[in-house]
Amino acid sequence: MNKKFHLVCYDCNNIIQNFTEWFKHDQKCSKCGSKRAEVSYSKDISGVKDLISEKNSKAENVWHYFDYLPLNNKENIITQNEGTIPVDNWQFLEKFAKDKFGITCEVHAYRNDLNGGTGTFKDVAAAVAASILKENNIKEYCVASTGNIATAYSRYLAIANITNSVFMPSDALLASEAEINAYGQKVFRLKGDYAKAKHVAADYSKKHKVLLSGGNVDPMRVEAKKIMVFEWLRLMKNYPTVYIQALSGGTGPIAIEKAHKDIKDLNLVSELPRFIMVQPDKCDPMTQGWDTAKENGFPQGWENKYPIIDNPVTEVPTLATGNPATFPIIASLVKKSNGEIISFAEDEIVDVAKLIAHETCVRIGPAAAIAVGGFFESLKKGLIKNGDVVLINIGEGVKRAPKFAEKLIYTTKIVDSVEDCKPTNRNSYLEQLYKPFDKYCK
Ligand SMILES: Cc1ncc(COP(=O)(O)O)c(C=O)c1O
Ligand SMILES: [Zn+2]
Repeated sequence: MNKKFHLVCYDCNNIIQNFTEWFKHDQKCSKCGSKRAEVSYSKDISGVKDLISEKNSKAENVWHYFDYLPLNNKENIITQNEGTIPVDNWQFLEKFAKDKFGITCEVHAYRNDLNGGTGTFKDVAAAVAASILKENNIKEYCVASTGNIATAYSRYLAIANITNSVFMPSDALLASEAEINAYGQKVFRLKGDYAKAKHVAADYSKKHKVLLSGGNVDPMRVEAKKIMVFEWLRLMKNYPTVYIQALSGGTGPIAIEKAHKDIKDLNLVSELPRFIMVQPDKCDPMTQGWDTAKENGFPQGWENKYPIIDNPVTEVPTLATGNPATFPIIASLVKKSNGEIISFAEDEIVDVAKLIAHETCVRIGPAAAIAVGGFFESLKKGLIKNGDVVLINIGEGVKRAPKFAEKLIYTTKIVDSVEDCKPTNRNSYLEQLYKPFDKYCK
């Protein structure tokens, strides 16, 4: 059998020959009905070593890892130069950890805002999914999304001339809706929350026989995001011991674990980074489920107990998963990695974004500010240790949220004449920008 890859049912090990078969069975295992399948490759995984070696200092996009992505023909590749983004060293946060907590650690930022498609960490998934759908001659697709995945899919699918129908909750950002519309993709805005949007999308998919995005465990998404691990190995001197990400459904940890599994025999990585997953405090059902389980010593079946927040009211609609069906998977992975699920105060994300923009000239979006806020919260909670290599996933730039961008105004002075205008120094703002973080200090 000279085939590049096949899928394996996660629950019963049934072999699914290819995506054509997977799609034919409505993205379910034909034996046990499981919605979770993993891709397995016939090519020797040791080829990854070459792809992450120094001679590959110029990887152009996610397809640098073509041999380990589930696409057969390079002619079907859709790309907007995503996935091979920089890891920046944020020394000011290292200094903060040292000065305020006496902790020596490395702090790095994974710059998904620089992805070429829509400037979010959903571009990689969209590039891989659009290519696979094109290869399988799919003409129509649909997705329920809080905004970013829908926007990325809408753009990449439009490039492949595949129609995408998007089901978004009532509070999704207007900027996302506008971008999706601009590509000629259909938006159905629900009178309700993300859970309702998912529900109606599933009904639509059934009624009109249109393929529905498989969510956080979708093998196309997991394979795409798996390349994060390859990239960190390619770009970083020291592999992360802590991975911080804003958490909605949680594809990140699933994909990181899959990559570790794929390369386990190559001696490139040992343990999983400790997953520190951060939820906005106004929509944090996973944190609540986690805290309760922890307080009770993780009793049997703990992973199936979590609250459901109907119609969450949050400043960060991209993270508004009130009914986190993936909690059993994500929370188990967090536990396995010795990590934590925590919350960050939404009221403070503007302060975070202002500080980051001043210190790095990077304007992060609200969901990314939740992740960076999680770093401060982690220091306060004692979750960062001496010697840690912390990687913060900057999942989106501010372009995604123009209203949020406007909140970063703080130097403007309304003037009438030159008499009102005095010379200033940009560094004079630093004290005021760091002030809100005093409360995170020991
Ligand atoms: C910028 C950003 N960060 C984090 C997340 C959370 O991702 P996940 O659903 O994989 O937890 C999202 C999801 O939309 C996002 O757009
Ligand atoms: Zn099965």
